[in-house]
Amino acid sequence: MSSRRKFIKKIAVVGATAPFISNVKAKENNNKGPIIICSRGNEWGEKVLKPGWDILSNNGDLLDAVEKSANITELDPSDTSVGYGGLPNENGIVQLDASIMYGPTHNCGSVGALEGIKTPCSVARLVMERTDHIHIMGKGAQDFARAHGFKIENLLTEKSRKIWLRWKENVSDKDDWFPSKNNDYDKKRTTGTINVLAVDSNNDVAGITTTSGLAYKIPGRVGDSPIIGAGLYVDNEVGAAGATGRGEEILRTCGSFFVVEQMRNGKTPQQACEALCKRIIDINGGPKNVDFNDKIVALGKDGSVGCASITGREGLEPELAYWSNNGFNVLKGTYLIEV
Ligand code: GLY
Repeated sequence: MSSRRKFIKKIAVVGATAPFISNVKAKENNNKGPIIICSRGNEWGEKVLKPGWDILSNNGDLLDAVEKSANITELDPSDTSVGYGGLPNENGIVQLDASIMYGPTHNCGSVGALEGIKTPCSVARLVMERTDHIHIMGKGAQDFARAHGFKIENLLTEKSRKIWLRWKENVSDKDDWFPSKNNDYDKKRTTGTINVLAVDSNNDVAGITTTSGLAYKIPGRVGDSPIIGAGLYVDNEVGAAGATGRGEEILRTCGSFFVVEQMRNGKTPQQACEALCKRIIDINGGPKNVDFNDKIVALGKDGSVGCASITGREGLEPELAYWSNNGFNVLKGTYLIEV
């Protein structure tokens, strides 16, 4: 049992900034027209959303907008949780998961355990647009990408290789791998992922989720990100939701589908995100059994947004960034368990 659990203080919807979430409803902020959001705050939000916003604000293509924004993180080697430079599986091989969904057709596509391609969400888009399938995994996904002209490259950067090697050398004292003398091993198992969701000026909705998945996973493990309804779901009548964090919890709750259906039944995106966090805590038998985190972001068709995580504390609230006619903004969401 993780020592983190003893830090849990209470279960409640907390987060001093929660009112900001409800303040960004389209009607209250005159947030008419396009809006694009991502599950990152200041550090990444602006650079991720800029290409998407430039496309949407010029009446460009909705799918191009979410793809170009998601590509920013995928192509940036400094992020170790998405695309190029993502942390590898237990064998030191980077395997990427991504999905895309388009509201007007309710069509979708995804790739899982994809090796050697820096931009898996672009391959997921081709699965949606150029095949009769939805999920393509592993070697088949790479062959499909190669057929469409994608270059096969080494995605393991020196930074990620060194982080992986530290893990490999420290994971067990019963094997033959020894840590270096200056052992700066950080036990934290990085999770990341990014969701990009958008509504265009026709009021159509689309979204992408992309990730390198759980660091040091068993080769072939597929998380929630490429599974439609888990890491991503879009409904053109309602809005969209995307998840980050421990994928297994999102998978066994059909997390993003759950959130969108809660919105369809009248909850605000914020209430719907909190409802999923509560559901995950409940199926785990309560806060005492929760030693992981998940975060969910949601976008209503009217431009309202929501963001909640299972754990957090003041100063470490979940965040989302959005860009609309009101400019670029970062919003702090709520968390249910204070750690
Ligand atoms: N949510 C990302 C993963 O678990 O793979």
